[in-house]
Amino acid sequence: AQHAERQSILNTLRLSRAQLLNLKSRMSEEMDRGLSKNAHEQASVKMLPTYVRSTPDGTEHGDFLALDLGGSSFRVLLVRVRSGTRRNVDMHHKIYSIPQETMQGTGEELFNHIVDCIAAFLEYMGMKGASLPLGFTFSFPCHQNRLDQGILLKWTKGFKASGCEGHDVVTLLKDAVRRRQEFDLNFVAVVNDTVGTMMTCGYEDPKCEVGLIVGTGTNVCYMEEMKNIELVEGDRGRMCVNIEWGAFGENGELNDYCTEFDRIVDECSNYPGKQRYEKMISGMYLGEIVRNVLIDFTTKGLLFRGKMSERLKTRGIFETKFLAQIERDRLAMRQVRSILQHLGLTSSTCDDSVLVKEVCSVVARRAAQLCGAGLAAVVDRMRQNRNLNQMSVTVGVDGTLYKTHPHFASIMQETLQDLAPQCQVTFHKSEDGSGKGAALITAVACRVKSEGQ
Ligand code: BG6
Ligand code: GLC
Repeated sequence: AQHAERQSILNTLRLSRAQLLNLKSRMSEEMDRGLSKNAHEQASVKMLPTYVRSTPDGTEHGDFLALDLGGSSFRVLLVRVRSGTRRNVDMHHKIYSIPQETMQGTGEELFNHIVDCIAAFLEYMGMKGASLPLGFTFSFPCHQNRLDQGILLKWTKGFKASGCEGHDVVTLLKDAVRRRQEFDLNFVAVVNDTVGTMMTCGYEDPKCEVGLIVGTGTNVCYMEEMKNIELVEGDRGRMCVNIEWGAFGENGELNDYCTEFDRIVDECSNYPGKQRYEKMISGMYLGEIVRNVLIDFTTKGLLFRGKMSERLKTRGIFETKFLAQIERDRLAMRQVRSILQHLGLTSSTCDDSVLVKEVCSVVARRAAQLCGAGLAAVVDRMRQNRNLNQMSVTVGVDGTLYKTHPHFASIMQETLQDLAPQCQVTFHKSEDGSGKGAALITAVACRVKSEGQ
């Protein structure tokens, strides 16, 4: 009887093919709305124009700074781009921490901190006071009228610094640079991490026309026909659009997919009601879903002999890395148990370990399927845009969950293939981060600018 009870709870987290197909078509509709002038305001996915149109042609060169803010680590990079026959990219980077208080303090504190890190990095590189163009990977939704501007629409994930929403992050950054009076920034391109990732991979593979992140948050960008982007003048060629798909569901599109666990995770998050799709997929939230299922099982006497521990009641104990570890196939139950012990869940039996592993697997599978269904909508849209019966495309991917989870990638690809059979999709894991792509975008912009002069 206990087995049946457990399974009926887990079944609420299992999706049918019909549900996934339905999700694909709801995502397509929402993308249409996001692109159209009339429906844009109401659309949950904002389909943000990025002003990235051209890929590197190999003639750009120079030294660029890049910042990578918004994922699990904050990085400052120096990127050297060489042109011609020695065409290559050389990078140096350093990771700096951003204390929780700074992430959630005032905007001025946050940007002062960022500028302190740039100054420290320049000093470390022996380039104190240098003034270089900067590619700013800023992994949040921004409204752009040009490449060197990004008006923050809203914070997502763990960030909450005051006084930034509605403001141009380039201005916020430049104000902080001015306050410090030590160096200058002569051009700043604002780039979403999906876009940076697409470019990083695109430097090696010109077929890379989609960027996917499955990390702390989740999001996709892709090359859309200019004529479909009603918010930008002009009909020729393509522009990269940042879908901001994490926000899918904010208009209730996911209501019949959400379980009570999703509702609790949403209510206890920084932004209740927001980023509903992201909260079912990305690393920042999956562990919380698992923890809430385990709490429910324990309360009902179906796990840990019904004994609730303080640990289990603690938010955030299930980090992405544990989810990935617990599902390693070769991991014996004894090791799963030792992971649970490490998490402070000491009184677990072997049966408990089996069940915890099953919960992790159901939650991760659902995330990967949801992600695959969304991606199916994106690639099929590109195929139809191009009037093709069959299309092959490369997706550049980054993010800790995607890279470390033993099954996420394969389940996602399986779902994608099933739901978009006319597209042959190759996944290219980004090894260099999105900072490299941001620097390349800056390099192209600087080249175009100098050609125009
Ligand atoms: C990194 C990119 O490699 O992946 C970042 O450079 C991106 O720009 C990140 O935000 C996403 O992964 P995570 O797991 O760090 O959020
Ligand atoms: C969040 C952000 C988005 C970013 C994604 C992945 O969804 O809003 O801009 O691309 O996380 O980091």
